[in-house]
Amino acid sequence: MVVPEARPFAKTGGLADVAGALPAALARLGHDVTIILPRYRGVHAIGAAATPAEIPFGGARQRVEFLELAQPSGVRAVFVDAPELFDRPALYGVGNDDYPDNAYRFAVLSRAALEYLRLREQRPSAIHIHDWQTGLVPVYQQIHYAGDPFVGGVPVVLTIHNLAFQGLFPPSVLSDVDLPWHLFHVDALEYWGKVSYLKGGINFSRRITTVSPEYAREILTPELGFGFDGILGRRASDVSGILNGIDTEAWNPRSDPFLETHFDARSPAAKSDVKRQLLERCGFVPNEAAMARPVIGMVSRFTDQKGFDLIERAADALLALDATWTVLGGGDPRYERFWIDVAARHPDRVSITVGFDEALAHLIEGGADLFLMPSRFEPCGLNQMYSLRYGTIPVVRATGGLDDTVVDADEPGAQGNGFKFTEYTPAALVAAVERALAAFRQPRRWRALQRAGMRQDHSWDVSAREYVKVYRAVGGP
Ligand code: ADP
Ligand code: GLC
Repeated sequence: MVVPEARPFAKTGGLADVAGALPAALARLGHDVTIILPRYRGVHAIGAAATPAEIPFGGARQRVEFLELAQPSGVRAVFVDAPELFDRPALYGVGNDDYPDNAYRFAVLSRAALEYLRLREQRPSAIHIHDWQTGLVPVYQQIHYAGDPFVGGVPVVLTIHNLAFQGLFPPSVLSDVDLPWHLFHVDALEYWGKVSYLKGGINFSRRITTVSPEYAREILTPELGFGFDGILGRRASDVSGILNGIDTEAWNPRSDPFLETHFDARSPAAKSDVKRQLLERCGFVPNEAAMARPVIGMVSRFTDQKGFDLIERAADALLALDATWTVLGGGDPRYERFWIDVAARHPDRVSITVGFDEALAHLIEGGADLFLMPSRFEPCGLNQMYSLRYGTIPVVRATGGLDDTVVDADEPGAQGNGFKFTEYTPAALVAAVERALAAFRQPRRWRALQRAGMRQDHSWDVSAREYVKVYRAVGGP
């Protein structure tokens, strides 16, 4: 598996959670899995075995070191160490600015993965790549390694975690990364005058999966295809959706090390202790009124994808509701400023933490009453599943994986577990939050919703088996 990020080594979002948990689930099923990723700053790899290598790029060579680390899960982690490329403050860039050499950085990751296989002299039964950063793996394979005994012809499966990121670069990168000019073609890597690494991954992989069944349908439509609906449409019979699982060890309200008190579906009462802990952590006084008032949590990248523009437009109505807000995240400076400003105006009811904070993320999942994800689009989304497990009722927009995992409590005849809205409008968002707050005021109904969510099984084992079926279908293990 070639991945741009993976827990516990490096994380900016849900892909890292998937790349940490899916290989471990496959290992539990008896498979031999290696993950290959860059050695970013802060990855210590203590005890790793180091092997130097030179990755060919035409006449030039990129020196790297492969650091091989055995993990307790049985999954082998291999870090591509090239400090001048990966030892930087961030993974992909700072703020909204990508590193200018990303085309080369991830070409190195992709080609190094194939060189690693040659070095080990072991032919894998399948190669699984993720997102644009690894899209060149099957391209290099077919252009430069077609006859190689360890690499040539190994089936490659691509998983798309987010179609909004397409790895677009000027055509001149082709020669920088040692790929022939003829790939600058509409049936290969060319996309509106640019080179797209993701398009390369789509056109050169045997199968394409994405992270929920609903998103697999949506990316074939002009509304959510981000211009790739035609490209994917040509491969529609090779596209399918497999819902992400969650790491039920890392996200377990019964044992979560970030919580002072633990709870589960049978003893949800202790959740209120976590709520107190959360209120204190956010600087609120956890008096009777504050404990009785519903807490709405958010943990998110601050981008348009996540619906922050919608929240901005609905802000007056949302803040008029009787609720406390605890928000954690960062990204687009515009939304950071928005939340800092809102918190300054409502210091008794709104808390904002800008940054990446794993401990607080767990505390919000554990202590909040509601969790808000009003995404414009959401390939899968993990936080709504963490919320379900922690008895924190999700309020979501009906899109992608959010639509697949949340059942509206007001839907007749269904066992609901949360609240959903469809129209991407402030009015629809506010109406859904109001319905959730109304349910919160009915304790018995609320507890039934909590229990329904907490009893659901979103563990990885089911999804890992689905991936094995895909690997087998393309001739893998
Ligand atoms: P995406 O990958 O699109 O950002 P997901 O819901 O799939 O969305 O996954 C986001 C993951 O990143 C979750 O594990 C979430 O808890 C975590 N996360 C997001 N922002 C932060 C943050 N500021 N601090 C800590 N964890 C965060
Ligand atoms: C992407 C998507 C998110 C998904 C995650 C893991 O970051 O935005 O919806 O859950 O990948 O697959």
